[in-house]
Amino acid sequence: MIYFDNAATSWPKPPGVAEAMVHFIDDVGANRGRSAHRLAVESGRIVYGAREAVAELFKASDPLRVVFGHNVTEALNLALRGLLHAGDHVVTSSMEHNSMMRPLRALEEQGVELTVVQCSPEGLLDPAGVEAAVQSMKKLNRDAAHLIQQVGANACTDITGFALLGHGYEMAEKSGVRLRFHVEQLPFVEGAVQYADEWLFPGGTCKNEQAYEHKVHFAPTIPEEMQQLLYTPETSGGLLVALPADRLTRLTGLFADEGRPCWIVGEVTEGEGVEVA
Ligand SMILES: Cc1ncc(COP(=O)(O)O)c(C=O)c1O
Repeated sequence: MIYFDNAATSWPKPPGVAEAMVHFIDDVGANRGRSAHRLAVESGRIVYGAREAVAELFKASDPLRVVFGHNVTEALNLALRGLLHAGDHVVTSSMEHNSMMRPLRALEEQGVELTVVQCSPEGLLDPAGVEAAVQSMKKLNRDAAHLIQQVGANACTDITGFALLGHGYEMAEKSGVRLRFHVEQLPFVEGAVQYADEWLFPGGTCKNEQAYEHKVHFAPTIPEEMQQLLYTPETSGGLLVALPADRLTRLTGLFADEGRPCWIVGEVTEGEGVEVA
């Protein structure tokens, strides 16, 4: 779905907008579809003309399937709540109007996954960042999970809303061990480090930090923006898997054979919690 948010705020409006409004108020004034008198028919003709114009613009095959809402907020709610279901992924930008963000945040609570690509303070959105987010979300964990099963793992989790550190901590806690990540070995989606440098993070980052900061130990050399980045929620951040060291080569070999990326990002040690070195 492509959403053009322009008509609400653009100014000045093209002259045709005012002309059409004046024509309707001065010369028509009737409700369409309510009656069969001449002006009601004329009103219906105008609305049908609008249907046809919108259908042509959006390449819709049937003008009768164009739905007009009372306003943008209603139309967006209709589209978002009608189309999205738990498990669907949405990519949007940090510049969206509340009429878009509020229903999306409400749907997020019902299981729709949301990635908000941050815009720069100048309001610019990097298309490469959007593309990277979309591509990363389109990748399924299913094939990677099959490869991992062939080798056998001690533990495995997907990395989503609680971010690498939150999910990593849960894995460590349940297994009674400590996870040590090496920051220079961690992969990041294109643009993520740059956004972090500009201190642009989604809201969930702060919540994750509050929930897990007492369980995570950062080496003093890790810059603050990198710490925040590791708390940043993921929509589909891949799988984190722990397996005995002697199976590593077999696993990385399988991934290489299938042309799938995998990274060795740290090790399991004695102790508890998560360490970032
Ligand atoms: C940019 C933008 N998008 C959406 C809306 C919501 O439009 P509506 O008031 O028709 O629901 C507004 C309203 O001001 C807006 O400025």
